[in-house]
Amino acid sequence: MLNLKGKTAVVTGGSRGIGEAIAVKLAGLGADIAIVYVGSEEEAQNAKAKVLEQGVKVELYYCDVSDFAASEETVKKIIEDFGGIDILVNNAGIVRDCLVLSMKESDFDSVINVNLKGAFNMIKHTYSHFMRKRKGRIISISSVVGLNGNAGQANYSASKAGIVGMTKSVAKELAGRGVTCNAIAPGYIETDMTNALSDKVKEQVAASIPMKKRGKPEDIANAVAFLASDEASYITGEVLRVDGGMAM
Ligand SMILES: NC(=O)c1ccc[n+]([C@@H]2O[C@H](COP(=O)([O-])OP(=O)(O)OC[C@H]3O[C@@H](n4cnc5c(N)ncnc54)[C@H](O)[C@@H]3O)[C@@H](O)[C@H]2O)c1
Repeated sequence: MLNLKGKTAVVTGGSRGIGEAIAVKLAGLGADIAIVYVGSEEEAQNAKAKVLEQGVKVELYYCDVSDFAASEETVKKIIEDFGGIDILVNNAGIVRDCLVLSMKESDFDSVINVNLKGAFNMIKHTYSHFMRKRKGRIISISSVVGLNGNAGQANYSASKAGIVGMTKSVAKELAGRGVTCNAIAPGYIETDMTNALSDKVKEQVAASIPMKKRGKPEDIANAVAFLASDEASYITGEVLRVDGGMAM
């Protein structure tokens, strides 16, 4: 049985979808939870309530992870509030899908800034804390489209491929310090992000998955829980697909 008692996990984008499932799962294994989010306060309060049901400490931090200074302040505040950080989950992400033909510069910049630079900012500001502790877990949510590409997602797939490269580099930098850094590449998961797709696209994508179905946020949360645990202490620089075989 995985056990995260006594540990503190930071989950960016933990206010809904995959991030909320990760926060609830890690809390169920005993970890205290810091949820970093933007957007709906109501969603964040709902996520907080679900985490609280697991009987752990939980706090909400409104912070745009693409903002370097704000991320630094938030990390400092979390360390103050919880006494330290053991697990960082970079899950915050956005999409601005369209063909390059009609993609605006701002569509490209905003996706790279949240998905890739946001993960960098959080890693940057927890880096020395983890080094000093000589222990830690960094888990970033990439995507199968970061491995294979996808028409209409040049910005998003670039950000998710960037996560893969950054994960392997940070894993090499911190391996000697007892800190692991891994990525998870989800396939097609049932959340608000994918619910925005048309029914036709949803059916087409599901049909292309060897398991013939969409995954659930909990499928990603289970993989995060394993990589966050002591049982995964010899795994670093890995990119774990959780995709029903989609990107085989
Ligand atoms: N849903 C899928 O099929 C799928 C597939 C592959 C990868 N992913 C990735 O999984 C992660 C979660 O996806 P989801 O489907 O749950 O998305 P979602 O849109 O339901 O949730 C996104 C979360 O990110 C947070 N967020 C967005 N911008 C932020 C910012 N600038 N600063 C801080 N927080 C911010 C939001 O507050 C929200 O909590 C994303 O990185 C996404 O790219 C999702």
